[in-house]
Amino acid sequence: NTETDATLIGKHEVLPMYQSREKFSHKGTYGHALILGGSYGKIGATLLASRAALVSGAGLVTTFVPKCGYSILQTALPEAMVITDKDENLITDISFDIAPKVIGLGIGMGTAAKSATALEKFLKSNTAPLVIDADGINIISKKKTVLKLLPKQTVLTPHPKELECLIGKWKDDFDKLEKVKVFSKKYDSIIVIKGANTITVYNEKYYVNTTGNPGLATAGTGDVLTGVITGLIAQGYDPLQATLFGVYLHGKSADIAIEDLGYQSLIASHVVETLGEAYLDLF
Ligand code: APR
Ligand code: MG
Repeated sequence: NTETDATLIGKHEVLPMYQSREKFSHKGTYGHALILGGSYGKIGATLLASRAALVSGAGLVTTFVPKCGYSILQTALPEAMVITDKDENLITDISFDIAPKVIGLGIGMGTAAKSATALEKFLKSNTAPLVIDADGINIISKKKTVLKLLPKQTVLTPHPKELECLIGKWKDDFDKLEKVKVFSKKYDSIIVIKGANTITVYNEKYYVNTTGNPGLATAGTGDVLTGVITGLIAQGYDPLQATLFGVYLHGKSADIAIEDLGYQSLIASHVVETLGEAYLDLF
């Protein structure tokens, strides 16, 4: 019964999820997030996501990018550590000697054959929880054998085109929801159907977000969402809570930001800047 399987997500629902900070905690308490992606001309996506992971409260953030992203990240985001691929412009070989608590990947990485091969190879040995967005979704959608490699409760955050890659074409909204439910069950994944009233699907259940506005229809806001969800998992939220709370905070941040900026002038960076106010608004 679809009626009873739906939950609206507002302040009342996310407040009990909120994790406060202990006096004697340290950065290790709040987890190490790895953001992986980018390609020549799309390093900004990893910058937005890495910044969002930090601002959401992750203790440590490392960003894995092609070499061309090194100076950009170290200059624009001194709080993050950077690891580079051996290739100048693309992700071609995913290897690192850190043990991140969670990895947010796929943003701005493109779908070059070299990058797809690197991601597939990486998934064979990876055990860390994953948040996969954008081209990461486009790459894994191609092969069932690759989808089977995803860890349990992997979070997938497709926009409509990426969702089509993942589940194929749908007839109407009901058909779409059914197809996403089937996918979620089959691969034990959490799917975020992005748009106005973002819907999160996990198994038989789905959750309709109540925050956000058309100001979010601007480049890079999806990359910010990837960073927020990744940052929440790093801090110890379980993947479903991190997703529901993350989608809520991201929308709320945009709702607060447009009060000063208006719909037209909101850009993705503002959504990161106002995230703290979205947290404070909970109380
Ligand atoms: N109302 C509320 N929220 C909205 C609205 C709206 N009208 N329009 C968009 N949003 C929200 C979505 O719910 C989502 O969280 O803004 C975000 C947009 O995410 P994406 O579609 O992924 O957009 P973007 O961040 O620009 O993606 C950057 O990555 O996914 C690729 O192809 C994409 O090149 C693009 C890049
Ligand atoms: Mg996107």
